[in-house]
Amino acid sequence: MTFLLIVVALAIGGAIGIFKAKHVKMTEMPELVAMLHSFVGAAAVLVGFCSFITDPGEPGVENVWHMGEVGLAVFIGAVTLTGSVVAYLKLSAKISGKPRTLPGHNGIIVGAIVVALVLIGFFTTTIGLQGGLPLLLVITALSLALGAYLVLAIGGGDMPVVVSMLNSYSGWAAAMAGFTLGNDLLIITGALVGSSGAYLSYIMCQGMNRSFVSVILGGFGGDGAAPSGAGEAKDYGDYTEATAEEVAAMLKDAKRVVIAPGYGMAVAQAQFPVADLTRRLIDAGVDVKFGIHPVAGRMPGHMNVLLAEAKVPYDNVFEMDEVNDDFGDVDVVLVIGANDTVNPAAETEPDSPIAGMPVMHVWEAGKVIVFKRGMGNAGYAGVQNPLFFNENTDMLLGDAKASTDAILSAL
Ligand code: TAP
Repeated sequence: MTFLLIVVALAIGGAIGIFKAKHVKMTEMPELVAMLHSFVGAAAVLVGFCSFITDPGEPGVENVWHMGEVGLAVFIGAVTLTGSVVAYLKLSAKISGKPRTLPGHNGIIVGAIVVALVLIGFFTTTIGLQGGLPLLLVITALSLALGAYLVLAIGGGDMPVVVSMLNSYSGWAAAMAGFTLGNDLLIITGALVGSSGAYLSYIMCQGMNRSFVSVILGGFGGDGAAPSGAGEAKDYGDYTEATAEEVAAMLKDAKRVVIAPGYGMAVAQAQFPVADLTRRLIDAGVDVKFGIHPVAGRMPGHMNVLLAEAKVPYDNVFEMDEVNDDFGDVDVVLVIGANDTVNPAAETEPDSPIAGMPVMHVWEAGKVIVFKRGMGNAGYAGVQNPLFFNENTDMLLGDAKASTDAILSAL
């Protein structure tokens, strides 16, 4: 009977998973991943509670280990659960992506972790349901609040690292659940996910010039206040517009072109006409390169997948670091639906939420064309982009696919 129940549960869960994965849009993948991490966290909490209720402890050393495993599984699982739910809400724009911190931010984080560990210490000494349950409930509530706060405190461009960090947490939560269940396979797979997720977060932090410890601990180490420039509307002057015909003429005259794609190319599904445009330009003898920022789009490798889908030759696709010093020699840059990843404020405005994040130096090129639907919306980090108001920048307003099609027709 138990076996049958497990098979039925697997079939229902698997069917829902396959349905979701088949129907999710490429641009909504990070939300889905965040949601799935929350399930792992919830599972670890439930396994911890089940394990405690079925075996609430007897006097002896074994009990200390068992209760310690339960306490840690519930702690890591609950942090992962609410952290992932908040990440999901932020990524799907159901709540603001801005960092939200309380005064005494660092103290709150360290205090909550220390209190949780001390409570887990006390929990290991309890015996029986009545002794342990109230303590386990307090640990759960504290961990749930900590998980939500850790992710609320991280903002804008750092969300990709948060998702990868939650991936790591979910692995450790699964490993702890493995300990409580005495299941070696779960311990090993959990540890694999936990350590690879932590390493991926570390690499992403390096790529984005962020402190690893600071990001995994919800912005720990900062002064706790949101950057003063966040959300402030600055006046950068006027912008100029170009038509598709004018852009086509510029491209005809250009010798070197770099395309900097971003999230907007994915939204517009413009990769196919962009690939056609690339082929047309290469055939006409133009040197065309794609410059890919490490967090362009909404997940690692997002742009590479789209370009591969549209059969853009790999030889023309470069990482940001491979093109960033050469923009001075480039005649035209097409910024197709990218915003934060080409925002010079990251280098020039220390109070900007994206300050310190490496960005593509597109503004050093002879001419920059920015594909965007309108001037009202900011990029993911929610900040204005002074690039749009530079003298050598023209805005090509409209859906990126329609704009690229129009350039192709004009060519
Ligand atoms: P964003 O800063 O998100 O900007 C997207 C741009 O595309 C906006 O200017 C938007 O302007 C434009 N756009 C949207 N739909 C469009 C359409 N149909 N046609 C033309 N333009 C369109 O993009 P980015 O430069 O790729 O930066 C990525 C951001 O996402 C970073 O802040 C990054 O940290 C964050 N993030 C990345 C990941 C990973 S791992 N890659 C995961 C989560 C978050 P309009 O709305 O006016 O058109």
